Amino acid sequence: MTYESLQSRPIDAKAGVVETRRDLLTGEALGVVAVGGAAEAARAVDRAHTAFMRGLPADVRSQILSRAASLLEESADELATLIRREVGKPATAAATEVARAVTTTRYAAEEARRLPGERVPLEATAAGAGVLAVTVPEPRGVVAAITPFNFPVNLVMHKVAPALAAGCPVVLKPSEKAPLTSLRIAELLAEAGLPEGWLEVVHGHPEPIVDAWCDDDRVAVLTFTGSAKVGWSLKARSPRKIHILELGSTSAMYVSRDADLDLARRDAVQAGFAYAGQACISLQRLYVDDVIADEFLALLAPDVSGVRAGDPAAPEVVVGPLITDAAAERVSTWIGEARDRGATILAGGDREGPLVSPTLVLGAQADDKLMCEEVFGPVISAARVSGVDEAIERINDSRFGLNTSIYTRDLAASLRFAEQVRSGTVLVNMPPSFRADHMPYGGIGDSGQGREGVRYTIAEMVDMKLVLLNPGGAW
Ligand code: SIN
Repeated sequence: MTYESLQSRPIDAKAGVVETRRDLLTGEALGVVAVGGAAEAARAVDRAHTAFMRGLPADVRSQILSRAASLLEESADELATLIRREVGKPATAAATEVARAVTTTRYAAEEARRLPGERVPLEATAAGAGVLAVTVPEPRGVVAAITPFNFPVNLVMHKVAPALAAGCPVVLKPSEKAPLTSLRIAELLAEAGLPEGWLEVVHGHPEPIVDAWCDDDRVAVLTFTGSAKVGWSLKARSPRKIHILELGSTSAMYVSRDADLDLARRDAVQAGFAYAGQACISLQRLYVDDVIADEFLALLAPDVSGVRAGDPAAPEVVVGPLITDAAAERVSTWIGEARDRGATILAGGDREGPLVSPTLVLGAQADDKLMCEEVFGPVISAARVSGVDEAIERINDSRFGLNTSIYTRDLAASLRFAEQVRSGTVLVNMPPSFRADHMPYGGIGDSGQGREGVRYTIAEMVDMKLVLLNPGGAW
């Protein structure tokens, strides 16, 4: 597959610098992409801003998104293969991601036709009597989207599709580790009828590109998924923009003594190890009620050892390689540090190149990196707790708060948990890794601000202009 046709569309060919993209495992060449910098980033905003000024009617945007969803669906195998080869995501998970992206895009096509607005009851005060007041959604302007490697199709569509639905053109900087899928998406959107300037992809080293967008007043919204450090620095650098920041997490699950233990075990494995734990909502901290901890962990450990790891092309493989050898080395070092400070490895703990075996650790200290930093690897750290109150306390002892789960049959305990846990989402008898693409999704604290989930993203990308209509009379 070559992407030569794409080189000149998103980036000025005269930049002249190109990069060969390679299969993460085999090193085989996958395609060639142009590399841009500050100048290409500025030119991308020029084109996007021109498109914004021209505008595009909502029904046209909806039709384009609808066609794009169908094209994504038709290209599902190709895109899934590209995801697998560029970022090592196992084949089954890659196929699921593309199917989710189709759904995300379809939702956006629908939402484009029903952008929110409301009648404000001005007559509620005497001063407003006789005045018709309505809010009208207006696209804020150019959206700069900066996306991560781990969901190179669906997280791109979570930014691009709502922006287009809202009437905002997008300048997109995909992860340096996964530009090919974004370029393919841009091609499919163009095929769906998206006019020039509505999606500009700039691939390259993040700093010059993102700096240019932070400093450009024509960029109204900055949407970013990545680390807390980078996310907050973008906000500090461009305080006048609207920011949607989807940052890290140390997602937690509490298993109470009355839980359905089979369900909790199955979900823990799924939530901890899908795509080798390289998702913000992967299960990282597992708090288990003391009364059932021995039984639960004795059953969980062999489940973890049984998770298939290896070649992401094999359909039964769940844990493939981490994105770089360095990432695998970091995760392995963190496991070693916890072990040196008294934790027990109940399963896994090994590393071979970029592959870290599915690992279950018991008894890491609260200040071990496995507990307090985002691991982004296939490691679950379990700890015993005396009950729901201690679970809440330990879960809240974190600067992050994204998705948090409780497994219990006790309605009162789940309500207390839902009320007291500081988290963007609380899930009862569902894994923290659960995400439906239309639900509000986002965190608090160092997990970020703003929400994704098509309709919720659109709400961040439009301004609500208030229009007051006085049918006559003096004011
Ligand atoms: C993320 O890792 O940020 C997103 C996870 C998902 O969409 O499932």
